[in-house]
Amino acid sequence: METDVLIIGSGIAGLTLAIKVATKRPNIKVAVITKTVKEECNTRYAQGGISAVWNHETDNFEKHIADTLDAGDGLCERAIVKIVVEEGPDRVREIIDWGAKFDKEEDGSYDLGKEGGHSENRILHYKDQTGAEMHRAIMEKAKTIENIILLEHHFALDFLTQHHLGRNVSRVTPGVECYGAYVLNKKTNLIETILSKITIAATGGAGQIYKSTTNPVIATGDGVAMMYRAKGRLENMEFVQFHPTSLYNPAQEGTAFLVSEAVRGFGAILKRQDGSEFMYDYDHRGSLAPRDIVARAIDNEMKISGGEFVYLDCRHLNHDEFYEHFPTIYDKCKSVGIDAFKEMIPVVPSCHYHCGGINTDEHGRTSINHLYAIGECTSTGLHGANRLASNSLLEGLVFAHRVAIDIDKTIDSIQINNKIPDWDAKGVTNPKEMVLITQSWKELKEIMSSYVGIVRSNVRLKRALDRLWLLYNETEALYGTSMISAQMAELRNLITIGYLVTKSASQRRESRGLHFTTDYPEKQEFIDVSIL
Ligand code: FAD
Ligand code: SIN
Repeated sequence: METDVLIIGSGIAGLTLAIKVATKRPNIKVAVITKTVKEECNTRYAQGGISAVWNHETDNFEKHIADTLDAGDGLCERAIVKIVVEEGPDRVREIIDWGAKFDKEEDGSYDLGKEGGHSENRILHYKDQTGAEMHRAIMEKAKTIENIILLEHHFALDFLTQHHLGRNVSRVTPGVECYGAYVLNKKTNLIETILSKITIAATGGAGQIYKSTTNPVIATGDGVAMMYRAKGRLENMEFVQFHPTSLYNPAQEGTAFLVSEAVRGFGAILKRQDGSEFMYDYDHRGSLAPRDIVARAIDNEMKISGGEFVYLDCRHLNHDEFYEHFPTIYDKCKSVGIDAFKEMIPVVPSCHYHCGGINTDEHGRTSINHLYAIGECTSTGLHGANRLASNSLLEGLVFAHRVAIDIDKTIDSIQINNKIPDWDAKGVTNPKEMVLITQSWKELKEIMSSYVGIVRSNVRLKRALDRLWLLYNETEALYGTSMISAQMAELRNLITIGYLVTKSASQRRESRGLHFTTDYPEKQEFIDVSIL
């Protein structure tokens, strides 16, 4: 298949870009591929909302910039933070024009929530279902545009570069170009070659490297692993954000249910199992300190008490208003036997967001020509060592807009490269034992959760690297001799991400933002971003 633009991913970043580029250029073909159905992505689970400076009487750009820089703990790029914060409100207005609804006060103004690390109320939200509502509006809009083709159940395996023309490509080769991607059609089990002038990774997060994560099963870091294999530039991989409050549920299998930070913004308080407050022992902002601080404090409290969770107390809050704002959270707790108006909610930290990823510039360009990246799979410079709550949806919208402008300027000078050979499936056989894949996936999660979690140390990281090496070799051998399945490709990508997180963590000899190690508990002055 040939297409002018190939977008990999149907979350907020991928679909917004598709709308923008296809509208600017009605005569080009824009293909969006997604590995399951178009609805399934991290975006649709976003609860708290999208941050933007809205009420100019109380808030301003400088305050939002300062909060973002403070959360990022010295590693944000100020110029990028400024771009996202200042362009953000226009992008939010656009999506409101496309039909996205946000909750309003009785006087018709938007009800602005607050979350950890924000000095002002600036979170627009739709109940506790903001992501689902925004994604609905974006999908509706995309449906009306004729030159967008959406292909579900199409799994991108690898970016195509000069490597696929038989040339040697290394991390220092200048002028590496992207010509599209090899894509597994999950309905036919055939691997298709999709050639494009421009390719965009919008593949989302990688939460599935950990046992407990708020991310759905699609979050396997595919785009970042593909970029690594294509010899592109990644950065800040060690900065994995653990959300402080996912619902503690020992019976839970799969994704952990998030109890939004907006609940704390609404007045809920973190407490020990004996009912005492603890967050002021760690930070003057109490339960509303930035996420890295709160998650570490909870981890520490659980280690001290030997308990498996702490509590979130919502009992004192106005019940009607709480239910109006957080119906999904209240109902979910009720469904597992917890009435949040009568009992405290047991919560634990869970892996939530990957701050590092594919390094991009202010136009969303990567280190590989004609290959852009947007959304959670990137490291744009916005989040630094720790993302400020509700800045992610905003980043997706702002960079989708910027990439569309850049594509419009460059696409006419790019030709399709039709010399790329088709995928060679000779000599491979059907994998006979699926258990090899599922068991390795479990082992990976165990390794990452035990050794590369909220608190790290040299010994733990070394142990993780040794075990990951074994898993890597076993999986590569399987990959080289078996017919490719999505599950096997995901496992391979997850192992790559686990390795990159661990390797970057062992290279950072300091504690900063989301990376805390007992061997180097202080921040160092001269350590910069980590590049792979
Ligand atoms: P996604 O929305 O995850 O989309 C990725 C897409 O890529 C999916 O369609 C996936 O199927 C596709 N894909 C991946 N790999 C492949 C492949 N190999 N081939 C083909 N397709 C592929 N952020 C906020 O700002 N505010 C919030 O309130 C908020 N709440 C959150 C709550 C939860 C529970 C979670 C999990 C996240 C939350 N976040 C929030 C983070 C935010 O939702 C995500 O960072 C953001 O939505 C990511 O958007 P995206 O478009 O980059 O990726
Ligand atoms: C939440 O609702 O707590 C999640 C917000 C975010 O991840 O930005």
